[in-house]
Amino acid sequence: MPDKVLIVDDDPGIRTTISELIQELGYSAETASDGLAAVGLLDSGPFFCVFTDIMMPNMSGLELIQRIKAQDVSLPIIVITGYASLEIAVDAMKFGASDFISKPFKVKQIELLLNKIKREKSLIEENRRFSDTLHLHRLIDNLVGQLEDKNEEIISLQEISDRIISLKGIRDLVSAIIDVSKQLLDEVEVRFFPLNRKDNKLVDTSSGKELPAEEELLQGNIVRKHNAGDCLSDSIETIFPLMIEGQVFGALHITSSSVLGDDKEGKIQYLLNRSAERMENVALYEGLYENMLSTLNSMAKILDARDPHTSQHSTRVTTLSMAMGAALELSEEEKETLYIAASLHDIGKVGIPDNILLKPGKLTNEEFDVIKRHPDIGADILKPLPPMAKETEIIRHHHERYDGYGYPAGLKGNDIPYLSRIITLADSFDAMTSDRPYRKGMSIQDALEEIKRCKGKQFDPSLADTFINKVAGA
Ligand SMILES: [Fe+2]
Repeated sequence: MPDKVLIVDDDPGIRTTISELIQELGYSAETASDGLAAVGLLDSGPFFCVFTDIMMPNMSGLELIQRIKAQDVSLPIIVITGYASLEIAVDAMKFGASDFISKPFKVKQIELLLNKIKREKSLIEENRRFSDTLHLHRLIDNLVGQLEDKNEEIISLQEISDRIISLKGIRDLVSAIIDVSKQLLDEVEVRFFPLNRKDNKLVDTSSGKELPAEEELLQGNIVRKHNAGDCLSDSIETIFPLMIEGQVFGALHITSSSVLGDDKEGKIQYLLNRSAERMENVALYEGLYENMLSTLNSMAKILDARDPHTSQHSTRVTTLSMAMGAALELSEEEKETLYIAASLHDIGKVGIPDNILLKPGKLTNEEFDVIKRHPDIGADILKPLPPMAKETEIIRHHHERYDGYGYPAGLKGNDIPYLSRIITLADSFDAMTSDRPYRKGMSIQDALEEIKRCKGKQFDPSLADTFINKVAGA
């Protein structure tokens, strides 16, 4: 498709002449007899350029130039003048015309004009493409850079968060703060000094010595010090307060060869803030947990005290269970759970009336049904305490039987929680070997025989073997 040229003149002779010349040069031509008609044609573009007369009815050439430029500033306009008038030419150029042509029109003249326009156009196009590409590249580079920075920052902050969240105790947290700080900052020395609140001094835990704490630090501000030595040993100390619940808990002491800067300081501050949150939680949790355990232990003691015949039962069951835990090489976490569950296994008996719990003689079936509620009652006592979720289920099932005939759920085999099966053995052994008002306790040997006989029925066979061979019978 040849480039289209729009020719606007009220003189049909001029329109024809220019059209023919233009077509000779390989362009196609469209013509309009005045500005208004030309405006109507513009939408059928794109046009390579516009030739326009100035003096025309309906809409003058100058007005047309303005209209065209308002629509497409890059469309070249050549003014046709019947006679060379500098004034008109200057006006037209002011409005945005790029050149002018006057009679007599010659092919060569038009060709030169069109070639000039073509060159300018390709120059403009190339320029735009180049600057567009350049701009785009810069934009992409910049974005990628920003993303990488952001990503690095996110990953690094994410690592900090993950690290902090996975920690349990305060000591772990302090060593994590030091490790993460070292990872964040290259070639620096990082130390943490807890604050002794009594005298407001920092404690050097490696030597036990106390160091003075800057007033600014005690007020919760970062302290920056420049230690001038000889030119090689100049160092910058940046001391961050670790604040917990608004109080200074300690100081993170960073020694570096250059100033940390906002970015690194910001990351360390983030690390310390997250650590502080975590420490607040740990402290709260540890406090609550200890509180809760001591309350429950008091309940267990009250229970033992209620029934003199079973006094110390919980303690003995706990001791036997822990011996099983050691023989089975349970993890520290499992041992902790086992310890708590064994100590509290009969806690539900607090809900059994004295006349049944303390009845000296044989229980009726109805009375025994009431006793059988104690595992569920115990589990219900612990249920509202989220950290006791595992213990709750272990306690609920400590009277299940391996063959499925136990209570309260009638669970069978491995469906019974593992630690419950351990407690069942310890509990039964202690019950068999303890004296009751109505009977004397069995000998250890007889009790072990009974356990052997009930392997696979009441007891987990493999656990029973461990109990017989490594715990009570050893
Ligand atoms: Fe029990």
